[in-house]
Amino acid sequence: MTVPARGNSAATAQPKLSITHVTKRFISPNADQEIVALQDVSLQAPSRTFICLLGVSGCGKTTLLNLVAGFLDPTEGEVRVDGQLVTGAHADRGVVFQDYALFPWLTVRLNVQFGPRVQGRSQAEQRALADKYLAMVGLSEFENRYPHELSGGMKQRVAIARALANHPSILLLDEPFGALDAMTRETMQDELLVLTTKEPKLVVFVTHSVLEAVFLADRIVVMSARPGRIMADITISLPHPRDRTSAEVTEYVREIRQLIAPQLKEEPRR
Ligand SMILES: Nc1ncnc2c1ncn2[C@@H]1O[C@H](COP(=O)(O)OP(=O)(O)OP(=O)(O)O)[C@@H](O)[C@H]1O
Ligand SMILES: [Mg+2]
Repeated sequence: MTVPARGNSAATAQPKLSITHVTKRFISPNADQEIVALQDVSLQAPSRTFICLLGVSGCGKTTLLNLVAGFLDPTEGEVRVDGQLVTGAHADRGVVFQDYALFPWLTVRLNVQFGPRVQGRSQAEQRALADKYLAMVGLSEFENRYPHELSGGMKQRVAIARALANHPSILLLDEPFGALDAMTRETMQDELLVLTTKEPKLVVFVTHSVLEAVFLADRIVVMSARPGRIMADITISLPHPRDRTSAEVTEYVREIRQLIAPQLKEEPRR
């Protein structure tokens, strides 16, 4: 049953993403306390790999994603993409948030065209990209709707289409399905795997759900409670599509839950 992770062939080449000895400290809002969100985090990833970041609330998952996105700078250490130091946001790194950060004043189509428009693509290119990615997420018929007219799952499909329309080589998703009901969530997981197989990328997907991580990931990076450190880096050697109820999936879930269980007692430490 051992199938190589999608990224293994690139493992010896320059990593797509290289996080080296990254520490991130914040000053608390009333400036009386220093919060160490991440402590000496190092992680390397090739392209075409699906990584899930797992860890208790407050362990620094969003902070790590924001550092890779270029929305934050590390206090110590560095983040590189294709060997280049990350110094800010870039269309090559697409981001999807939990709370459907769509532009409420733009239609579905214009939300998806937003990135290509900012990048200076022609009207025809913008339209073609929106056509392609709205079809890919099954929302062509909803192109003229506004975000408030959509269900949670549909909004997240638009957010994914909007991120993909920039042709990012890295897709960063921060608990994108966290607010969805269980059925929609599973459908979205299936769809995301289809999309990222059609257009392979490095995916870094933050979740609280161990089962979601085992279902999706080539690799699961487990973080410790604050200050966030990498506690385990687990390769999930199961072929896709995976059966959420299979003995193999259940066994991975059990092992990872055991690893995280001691951290859960410390969850209120935010
Ligand atoms: N801008 C900020 N200023 C001060 N502290 C911050 C800031 N951003 C994050 N933190 C703190 O850093 C720690 C890590 O936060 P982060 O949001 O990365 O955790 P998380 O793992 O994503 O949590 P959750 O699972 O709840 O989303 C927390 O203690 C948080 O309060
Ligand atoms: Mg978070």
